[in-house]
Amino acid sequence: MSSNFEASNNSSSSNGEEKKRQVVCVTGAGGFIGSWVVKELLLRGYRVRGTARDPADSKNAHLLELEGAEERLSLCRADVLDAGSLRAAFSGCDGVFHVASPVSNDPDLVPVAVEGTRNVINAAADMGVRRVVFTSSYGAVHMNPSRSPDAVLDESCWSDYEFCKQTDNLYCCAKMMAEMTATEEAEKRGLELAVVIPSMTMGPMLQQTLNFSSNHVARYLMGTKRSYPNAVAAYVDVRDVARGHVLVYERPDARGRYLCIGTVVHRADLLRMLKDLFPYYPATAKCEDDGKPMAKPYRFSNQRLKDLGLEFTPLRKSLHEAVLCMQQKGHLPLIYPVPKRAYL
Ligand SMILES: NC(=O)c1ccc[n+]([C@@H]2O[C@H](COP(=O)([O-])OP(=O)(O)OC[C@H]3O[C@@H](n4cnc5c(N)ncnc54)[C@H](OP(=O)(O)O)[C@@H]3O)[C@@H](O)[C@H]2O)c1
Repeated sequence: MSSNFEASNNSSSSNGEEKKRQVVCVTGAGGFIGSWVVKELLLRGYRVRGTARDPADSKNAHLLELEGAEERLSLCRADVLDAGSLRAAFSGCDGVFHVASPVSNDPDLVPVAVEGTRNVINAAADMGVRRVVFTSSYGAVHMNPSRSPDAVLDESCWSDYEFCKQTDNLYCCAKMMAEMTATEEAEKRGLELAVVIPSMTMGPMLQQTLNFSSNHVARYLMGTKRSYPNAVAAYVDVRDVARGHVLVYERPDARGRYLCIGTVVHRADLLRMLKDLFPYYPATAKCEDDGKPMAKPYRFSNQRLKDLGLEFTPLRKSLHEAVLCMQQKGHLPLIYPVPKRAYL
């Protein structure tokens, strides 16, 4: 099976032969972002080892059908809470992309994100891995009520931990703690670390199961949400996120945080875009806060990734292809206009 949706514009590389000898491992390979990171790495000539808690599960089957997978992809069983399984997965690897994490507000899963990250960094150091790319989240960056509305959101920003906890955004707490843990442990163990910080990630799915951020759009189109919040959010295309991971890996001088945000829009504008692209779905046009002043999009900087050569995909294209993909995979019904009848 070849996907209709392309990964990199620049899939052929001048040093492809050298990369074919390099083994890299991607944790959480079968998830939404993990699958695109695997695809991008295969297209660029790497030998890739992907981890999953159950590699034989049919939810990971799409990985084996990616271009180059037959020759250069192997899947192995690893749980981030099982250090031994991680050491086995990282054996002989030059680099590790630590993408795996629960995407959930469940308090029981916070330790999986944090201790899982500690285990990954230490297992990587134990096995002589040179470089780690960690997938953080803009949930670790933007949730700060004290930030001035005029401030530019950039790599120096952190969410307010207590605010996240009080507002039950435990996913943001988990990603903050996981990112800090990755940074501290990598420094202690002398590992090179680059952190990619994606915002709400959109675009076509390679996997069959519906992930959290794709569902963010699906539930509006299905009419499940009766109104939308008076809120702004940042979005980015999943292919840009995957390219960002590989770019920071390949640049030997890339270190620290890289904010991966394509655009910031008010939810009303997201819904208008969806309505314009797919007018026959029953997406709501009602704001929860009707009558109150609209929240204003904040400014942000994605310059660090742009400086490495990343070009960001327009949100409209990401949304369009995300919805077409969800239709193809059966997560959204195909809805056409009811033809007007000439005679009644
Ligand atoms: N999607 C977004 O909007 C977004 C935005 C910013 C950051 N992120 C970050 O990007 C990463 C991937 O997110 P996603 O959207 O691709 O989510 P996803 O599709 O739900 O994938 C999550 C992955 O994590 C793995 N995982 C969960 N618990 C694990 C454990 N105990 N041991 C090993 N693997 C485990 C899952 O693997 P199994 O197959 O074993 O279940 C799955 O492959 C996460 O770190 C998330 O925080 C996502």
